[in-house]
Amino acid sequence: MNHFLDIHKTDPADLRQMIEQAKDMKQARNGAPKATPDADQPLKNHMVALIFEKPSTRTRVSFDVGVRQMGGETMVLSGNDMQLGHGETIADTARVLSRYVDMIMIRTFDEAVLEEMAEYASVPVINGLTDRTHPCQIMADVMTFEEHRGPIAGKKVVWAGDGNNVCASWLHAAGQFGCDLTFTGPVQLDPEMEFVGFARNKGAQITIERDPMKAVENADLIIADTWVSMHDAQSAKERRHNMLRPYQVNRQLMEAAKPDALFMHCLPAHREEEVTSEVMDGPNSVIWDEAENRLHAQKAVMRWCLGV
Ligand code: CP
Ligand code: NVA
Repeated sequence: MNHFLDIHKTDPADLRQMIEQAKDMKQARNGAPKATPDADQPLKNHMVALIFEKPSTRTRVSFDVGVRQMGGETMVLSGNDMQLGHGETIADTARVLSRYVDMIMIRTFDEAVLEEMAEYASVPVINGLTDRTHPCQIMADVMTFEEHRGPIAGKKVVWAGDGNNVCASWLHAAGQFGCDLTFTGPVQLDPEMEFVGFARNKGAQITIERDPMKAVENADLIIADTWVSMHDAQSAKERRHNMLRPYQVNRQLMEAAKPDALFMHCLPAHREEEVTSEVMDGPNSVIWDEAENRLHAQKAVMRWCLGV
C-alpha cells in the first residue's frame, strides 16, 4: 500500500508509470458514457472516503466518478460534519476510518493534518489539496501536456502569478519529470525556497523573472491560477490583485511565448483577472482536457495506492 502525499515524495518511476497508465485507461474508455464500468473493475468491493474541509467541484466529482468507473464505492464527507471538526483528533479519526474504508482522500488546510492522517491510517491516504501543495492536479497537468505536445522532459513551463500550492507541486514536477520552470510574479508571492531547492537539486532549471514578457520567451506552457486561494484571507484580496495585475495571462503574453505554447489553469478561474477569456477560450488553451484528465490521472493514482 502507498500513500500519495506529494509529487516530491513519490518515486519518479512510479509517477511515470501512473501517467502512462492514466493515458491507457483514458484511451480504453474511448469516450464511453461516464457511468460505463471499466472492463477490469480494479476497485471492486472497495470503499473510498472523500473528505473535504474546503470547497471543491473537480476533485470531488472526478474522484467520485473515477472510483465508480473502477467498480468501487465512495462516501463524500465534509470535515465540518465529522467529529474531526469538533475536537476528535486526526490520529483517532484515521484509525477509525481505516476500519470502515479501504482508502482516504482528504482536502484540508494545514499539511500537518494530511501527514497525521497518513501516519495513523492503515489504508492509503491521498492529498486532495492542502495550503501548500496540490499533487493530483499536476499529475493531470503533466498528462495533458504530453497528450498535446509529447514528453514534458526538457520543456519550458512558465508559472505566472502567485507562487501558491499548485505552483509548489509544479516545482516538484519539474524536479521529478525533468522540465524547466520559470516563475514570474511579485517578490512578495514567490514560491517557497524549499520547493525551488528541491527542483534545482534534481537538476531542473528554475528561474525567477519579474518581467512577465521576458519570462515567457520560448515557453512551451504558460500556467495561471487564482490570485486569492481558498486559504488566503479575503481581506488581502485587494492588495493581492494590485500586486498580481501585471501578471495576467492575456493575448500579449501568449504571443510572446512559442507560437504553439499551451495555456493551463487548474480552475476555478476568475475570467479577466488572472486570465482573459480570450486566452481561456482560445486555440492554445487546454483547460477542459486538463479538467477531464483529473479523472484519468487520479484513477491511476488510486490503483497505485492500492496496488491493484
Ligand atoms: N482544480 C481543482 O482542484 O478544482 P476544485 O477545487 O473544484 O476541486
Ligand atoms: N490555489 C487554489 C487552487 C484551487 C484548486 C486554492 O488553493 O484555492
